[in-house]
Amino acid sequence: MNHTRTLILALMIALLPACSQQRPSTVGSDAAIEKRIDQLLARMTLSEKIGQMNQVSVGGDISHYAEALRKGQIGSILNEVDPVKLNEYQRICVEESRLGIPLLVGRDVIHGFHTIFPIPLGLAATFDPALVEEGARIASLEATAQGVRWTFSPMLDIARDPRWGRMAEGSGEDPWLDARMAEAMVRGYQGPVLDTTSMAACIKHFVGYGAAEGGRDYNSTFLTERQLRNVYLPPFEAAVKAGAMTLMTSFNDNDGVPSTGNAFILQDVLRGEWGFDGLVVTDWNSMGEMIAHGFGVDRKDVACKAANVGVDMDMMTFGFISHLEELVASGCVKESVIDEAVRRILRVKILLGLFEHPYVDVEAAAAVQYAPAHLDAARKAAEASAILLKNDGVLPLRADKVRTILVTGPMADAPHDQLGTWSFDGQKDHTVTPLKALQERFPGKVIYVQGLRNSREVRTRFDDVVAAARRADVVLAFLGEEAILSGEAHCLADLNLMGSQSELLAALKATGKPVVATVMAGRPLTIERDLSNCRALLYAFHPGTMGGPALANLLFGDVNPSGKTPVTFLRTVGQAPLYYAHNRTGRPYNGEMLLSEIGAEAGQTSLGNTSYYLDYGAYPLFPFGYGLSYTTFRYSDIALDREVYAEDGTIDVSFTLTNTGECDGTETVQVYVRDLVGSVTRPVKELKAFERVALKAGESRRLNVRIPVADLAFYGLDGVKKVEPGDFQLWVAADSASGEPLSFQVEKKE
Ligand code: NOJ
Repeated sequence: MNHTRTLILALMIALLPACSQQRPSTVGSDAAIEKRIDQLLARMTLSEKIGQMNQVSVGGDISHYAEALRKGQIGSILNEVDPVKLNEYQRICVEESRLGIPLLVGRDVIHGFHTIFPIPLGLAATFDPALVEEGARIASLEATAQGVRWTFSPMLDIARDPRWGRMAEGSGEDPWLDARMAEAMVRGYQGPVLDTTSMAACIKHFVGYGAAEGGRDYNSTFLTERQLRNVYLPPFEAAVKAGAMTLMTSFNDNDGVPSTGNAFILQDVLRGEWGFDGLVVTDWNSMGEMIAHGFGVDRKDVACKAANVGVDMDMMTFGFISHLEELVASGCVKESVIDEAVRRILRVKILLGLFEHPYVDVEAAAAVQYAPAHLDAARKAAEASAILLKNDGVLPLRADKVRTILVTGPMADAPHDQLGTWSFDGQKDHTVTPLKALQERFPGKVIYVQGLRNSREVRTRFDDVVAAARRADVVLAFLGEEAILSGEAHCLADLNLMGSQSELLAALKATGKPVVATVMAGRPLTIERDLSNCRALLYAFHPGTMGGPALANLLFGDVNPSGKTPVTFLRTVGQAPLYYAHNRTGRPYNGEMLLSEIGAEAGQTSLGNTSYYLDYGAYPLFPFGYGLSYTTFRYSDIALDREVYAEDGTIDVSFTLTNTGECDGTETVQVYVRDLVGSVTRPVKELKAFERVALKAGESRRLNVRIPVADLAFYGLDGVKKVEPGDFQLWVAADSASGEPLSFQVEKKE
């Protein structure tokens, strides 16, 4: 990627005010908006106000909801995307309700609307915020054309346990990477100008949801305030600064307090410290579920608790619509609390221009979906997100050298499953699978034997596949897990390839033919044993609509792989959670003996007293930030501009990056920092910058990355965010486990 462009972009972002969108002239100044809201509020009855705070999932016949809409009892709907129906919903509100307030139409547009991009975890593997922003913009163009003006995305939950199915929906384990992706998605959805192509972004799930104990969805979390502030909150804060208009509370209780009733996170941090004046919506029935948590006696009680901590809109509990009037009458909820909530909802509607433009042009909407430019961008994103984890030189394949290609495996032609989780609107008829792409590219050369009907099928014999492999010059096995195996409520306790997929790969290897595996999955699966049964392995996550052509381009070398792991890949599930930025322990692992290396008479003291597993050691299969290329890169002459920096200074690290191989390629340079001594224990390393750099074969370039010393700040013993002066180390490296550190100091300000 163009270095200057990134720097200019970064500069522009830094100079922008909190909300980075421009407003269309029809919307007017802040004062004009607030005046408009005052005037509307003055005309609203209490019941109409509460109606705005009610969000309903609709489906089927509009007539079921018409009466409630006319009475102003619904402020927002979700799960309708038919533009004809949405126009009718809006018409009833705008023309037949007393005040004519339009609806806010929400939808889970998570990684594309019709044109589906790779799952967010795959997008994070690109380490390319500009590409991610473009994807979000395209999603917005398609969805808004049909009348959807609010997406429940981006999901910013830090996820460090791949058993958790929702790891697929976020950017992985690292707060810095997550924050950059968060900003990119917010910018993409909301657009440079808030106009009719803007969708309000909804940052979710606030907060800590990804730390569910045992990686089991909806489970409790026990995050300390320091851990929240240093790891889980930063992506949300970054997204708020980037102008995110709305936020969703999470399902989990943290240390006993469910998020939808949590005054500390919603009032003190979000509204108080960050000054967020956007709309807060609950997750689906998360208000009602506070009863199941045992945090409230009944729906009235939890509605009262949620309203009083600043929840503005109720998704599907019907707690506000059923009880807020009586709660106001009894004095449990002040009407001023309701007024503030409604103000925040109306502000979003005004900013989106919904009052002026409630309807969409149905014919124009159809032309926007799956536009060639959108498909092209989705293909590029899928190309950039695939991670090459092994290659003995068999890749890239040479089209002129292969006459017969065996395509096999449950994911080779799974048009729905390669779209991944949360792709409600992606249609499988538009999906191009690897099989389709390869057949089109090599007419007459492809043999297809599925091998396993799905990832879970158990088979003991593979005679048909093996016979086909014997006839082929190369075997392309597409393995992994279907879309349904990751995402919400889809957690796993075993992360090996399911069914007989590993056996299939072993049988293919036994033919002696070159076997190349491609894994499509919603999480990092534990593929250690499979690596030895293939000569190359490409990890594609769920790559979306254009996954097929993207993978064909990668396998045959039109595109050089450049994805890097956005999350640590485990050797075995029992290592979870294992992440690179763990705190320094008193007994760090030092390569001590494993069980397999010790004799039968070994006693207690023959094993190293360090932090590791006797059977698996302490290292992952692949560290965070890892990924191969068809070329190789060398880092040299890494130098800091100073040895000592002021607390308000900027670290300038320069280095030479050389493409030492024989083809062009893109490397994601990563900069990690370690704070050697803190008032509290600090992580062994933390990512502080990354940059994609494209280099021609043999090209060498002197580059530099600038890191404000302020970015080294953290919440220490006194609970105040600041840089603690002292000694630091810094790595410029290809991943989180390589490179040699440089040392520097931060000096105390006199
Ligand atoms: C529940 C999920 O947790 C959330 O992410 C989603 O946006 C809502 N349902 C709405 O579908």
